[in-house]
Amino acid sequence: MRTDTGTTVRLEDYAPTLFDAKHVTLMISLHPKATVVRNSTDYAPRGVVDDPLVLEGDGLNLVAADLNGAPLDPRAYEASPDRFVLKNPPKKPFELTLTTIVAPEDNTELMGLYRSSGIYCTQCEAEGFRRITYAYDRPDVLSTYDVWMLADGPGEQVLLSNGNLVAEGQQDGRAYAQWHDPFPKPTYLFALVAGALGAVRDTFVTASGRRVALAIYVEPGKEARAGYAMDALKRSMAWDEERFGREYDLDVFNIVAVSDFNMGAMENKGLNVFNDRYVLADPAVATDLDYAGIEAVIAHEYFHNWTGNRITCRDWFQLCLKEGLTVFRDQEFTADVRSRGVKRVQDAKRLRLAQFREDASPLRHPVRPSTYDEISNLYTATVYEKGAELVRMIHTLIGEAAFRKSMDTYFDRFDGTAATVEDFLSCFAPLDVNAFMAWYQEPGTPKVAVEEDFADGVATITLTQHPAPSATVKPVPIRIAAFGDSGQLDLSAAKVKGAELDGDLLVLKGETASLTLRDQGAAPIVSVLRAFSAPVILERADAPARDIALLTRESDPFSIWDAAQRLLIGALLSAYAGDEPDLAATGEALSAVVTDDAHEAALRALLLEVPSRFTLIEAIGTDVDADKVDAAHRTVSTALGKAMQPALTALHDAPAPAADDVSAGAAGARALRNCALTLLAAAGDTARAAKQADEAGNMTDRLAALGALAGARADETDAALETFHDAFSHEALVLDKYFALQALRGDGDPKARVEGLMAHPAFSLSNPNRTRSLIGAFSQNVAAFHAADGSGYRFLAETAAKLDAQNPQVAARLLTAFGDVRRFDPARRSAAKAALEATFAKVKSSDVADIVRRLLSAN
Ligand code: TRP
Ligand code: ZN
Repeated sequence: MRTDTGTTVRLEDYAPTLFDAKHVTLMISLHPKATVVRNSTDYAPRGVVDDPLVLEGDGLNLVAADLNGAPLDPRAYEASPDRFVLKNPPKKPFELTLTTIVAPEDNTELMGLYRSSGIYCTQCEAEGFRRITYAYDRPDVLSTYDVWMLADGPGEQVLLSNGNLVAEGQQDGRAYAQWHDPFPKPTYLFALVAGALGAVRDTFVTASGRRVALAIYVEPGKEARAGYAMDALKRSMAWDEERFGREYDLDVFNIVAVSDFNMGAMENKGLNVFNDRYVLADPAVATDLDYAGIEAVIAHEYFHNWTGNRITCRDWFQLCLKEGLTVFRDQEFTADVRSRGVKRVQDAKRLRLAQFREDASPLRHPVRPSTYDEISNLYTATVYEKGAELVRMIHTLIGEAAFRKSMDTYFDRFDGTAATVEDFLSCFAPLDVNAFMAWYQEPGTPKVAVEEDFADGVATITLTQHPAPSATVKPVPIRIAAFGDSGQLDLSAAKVKGAELDGDLLVLKGETASLTLRDQGAAPIVSVLRAFSAPVILERADAPARDIALLTRESDPFSIWDAAQRLLIGALLSAYAGDEPDLAATGEALSAVVTDDAHEAALRALLLEVPSRFTLIEAIGTDVDADKVDAAHRTVSTALGKAMQPALTALHDAPAPAADDVSAGAAGARALRNCALTLLAAAGDTARAAKQADEAGNMTDRLAALGALAGARADETDAALETFHDAFSHEALVLDKYFALQALRGDGDPKARVEGLMAHPAFSLSNPNRTRSLIGAFSQNVAAFHAADGSGYRFLAETAAKLDAQNPQVAARLLTAFGDVRRFDPARRSAAKAALEATFAKVKSSDVADIVRRLLSAN
């Protein structure tokens, strides 16, 4: 609660603690209002220490303090809710036992120990452990743990913590359990779960023959919905052995799904805790996208066991060390088990939509920042997604074999330690670490200009990098190809200046490089940034003819998709300017590609997506008119649907895969049919979508049909949404989809609709999933949030201020939508500023204060 307002943490101030905390014994007696936590920690001075021992707390209530088993004289220490100070600690190792009482039921922040639908659970990353007990609550202090837990009543038969189970039983009618975690870990990886839970169980035998008992705990009755997550877990475990040589290390691996959770999931050692939306699935209630999300998040958290847990972070500035690297690993997993080409397109799309957007906003920061005010606000697209891109560039620069060897070196050298980005990079021998570090330390998205020249049979391609403001020239891996009438040209014959070229990889190390091809009959069609080989923005003259040629000549899925996107962005810009977009040529070329079975269905589906409103806003740049953006998007969707009608009709008329087939292949086929449906609805064929909404055999087809109706502003929308609502009103995760559809609709008065739905019996601001699905979705409704009268800004700011007292992390996250405001006109900018200033006057949390301050300072 804003206890640390104004304290900026600086990387340069890093210093290790004065004491080690070698071992922690926790005895926890659970009670909704008064859980007693007895924490006995073995501390040892690191060398000669004359200073006090200072531990962190947050809202704690100390009831007893003992040193080496004897009560401490009250004059020997100072205890406040947020600090414990032992004034004259012993000069040799000692055991300090601190007993605190916490009230999990009153914990609405969902950090520390809280209850979710009657289940006790914890969330300690980044600084939640201090809300349970006093500790060195920082990632560079590693301890082994023994945890005793006593249930608060007969209902709590499942008692879980990190590591291996040592003992369990009954004592005076209360269940107890004892867990031991032999792997030293920082406080943020501690976890505890207790409650009445159902389980699915399985086993995994590791490459070296160790049997691991796997369990996924869910609300009783929902066990069948955890089957896919279990399957994904076993595949993740096998993949990490195969691709990275990493085996699991404990006898058990437990996952618990809870319904109140601030983010996606958490990698606590041996006891991952998940937002239930990333565990529970059944084709009747979950979409193909949900399945893919479950698979990726299960993998991500599992992969953290090595990248995050066995090797953790020295301090929170190094967050990308575990997050960027682990996202890279989960991306590679998805690429291997689904489709590499499609995954690359999805990741590039996501990076541009979330990270480039953040990088262009007042919330921009380096992947490895050097200061922060509130650590919870650093769990961003930049740390996660751009962090993964940096690891991917290293992989591209040194190649798979050297990358794998370097990762082995990293695991060998740093296992059991808390490491830094510099430690990590030092393992990648052929890499120019000094040059590459700039990628970690500088915010902003670099631009690479592409210039082409053709005369007398000689084609020259010049690439020039323009670093972001106040950034430097960096190594940029650029994959490149050229095509002539008879196919792909052999670039090994090209003359390259200012760079090296290896196959299709050109590494730009200085500011500029050029490539010259002689004896060309015509200007070649050049494809730059294949596979999205670097997180940069290309600056290149528009050439629709080139993009249409690339659609058929390129084999790289990203480049094909990117060419389609450029064509459609061109159409969006002309619609925004008030012209009728000419989609004849684009429609014809796209029709040919999307009906060509040589491409995967999932890729063809991506080609049919009209670039998002945010992509258009970025392309316009400044002084954007939000209403015109919305109109332009609908105009282009309609025109494209009309231009491609025969192809789209054929695609949607094609037989659908079995409704319960959740494989990537089936998902791709459905995505293609549903993208066709969406464009057909935009072009006026809403009856087709209404029919599908009625008859759909699974959630993917149902939701796609509803989205198509809503996007087309079809007359059938209200009735279809109400039918949907009534059929699934008992399914919380489906209601989230309903709330999001309602909040994203453009017709009528979206704000009034959202305000009405806040009174829905199933809606609650105290549940993060509900909040994100209704309020978060509203903030992405461009015309409504950026309404000219400022009503959208005020609504979001006021709702966030209301939530601030309950759950600051979620409140702060909602406000990040204001990051886009600088793209709009001055009137909107000042309305947004006024709304934020009014919020700032009301908020208490450091989370919200930090975001609002940054948003305002750069406005
Ligand atoms: N470390 C988690 C992950 O990326 C995410 C996380 C960080 C988190 N802080 C959290 C989850 C707070 C829930 C609450 O896998
Ligand atoms: Zn993570």
